[in-house]
Amino acid sequence: MTDVLAYEVRRVQGEAEMAAVLELRRDVFCVEQGVPVREEVDGRDGEGMHLVAVSSDGELLATCRLLFVGPTVQFSRLAVRQNARRRGIATALLALADEETRAGGARRLVLHAQTYARSLYEAAGYEPRGRVFMEAAIEHIAMEKYLQ
Ligand SMILES: CC(C)(COP(=O)(O)OP(=O)(O)OC[C@H]1O[C@@H](n2cnc3c(N)ncnc32)[C@H](O)[C@@H]1OP(=O)(O)O)[C@@H](O)C(=O)NCCC(=O)NCCS
Repeated sequence: MTDVLAYEVRRVQGEAEMAAVLELRRDVFCVEQGVPVREEVDGRDGEGMHLVAVSSDGELLATCRLLFVGPTVQFSRLAVRQNARRRGIATALLALADEETRAGGARRLVLHAQTYARSLYEAAGYEPRGRVFMEAAIEHIAMEKYLQ
């Protein structure tokens, strides 16, 4: 039997779903990866656009955040629930991030990729910029993408 996971990707809707977004980020970044809460919660969520993947039965599966800074979008906080990984959900959120970036009048996306996940972003059209560096004690590399 094929294990198909039905889900939709869209902007976050309502306060309860936003609370679930923050809980998922805490589980993934702080509990799983050991990022300090003070770095995960950076005070910029209020100005961000939050995208989510939600299963057909309403479970929050994944999230990411877009911050519009002039013609550039800072993409961050991409987290997929552990039992929903390797099914293309992050890739679907990256595609929606492109659409929202265009719709918002920006043409460039930038992010700090954890180096282990670099191929995820390369497959979505991002290119590395500069050297590997440490952030929250995790190896990262800056990447960017220009939309046509
Ligand atoms: C990284 C993460 C967001 C990927 O989400 P995902 O939904 O599993 O990603 P996708 O299924 O869209 O993966 C697409 C491709 O990216 C690459 N990729 C994804 N996860 C990877 C991993 N853990 N290691 C290496 N490559 C990976 C693969 O090439 C994958 O294709 P494949 O499954 O056919 O091999 C998810 O593992 C996660 O939430 N990790 C913890 C938080 C984190 O590290 N966030 C990213 C910060 S930069």
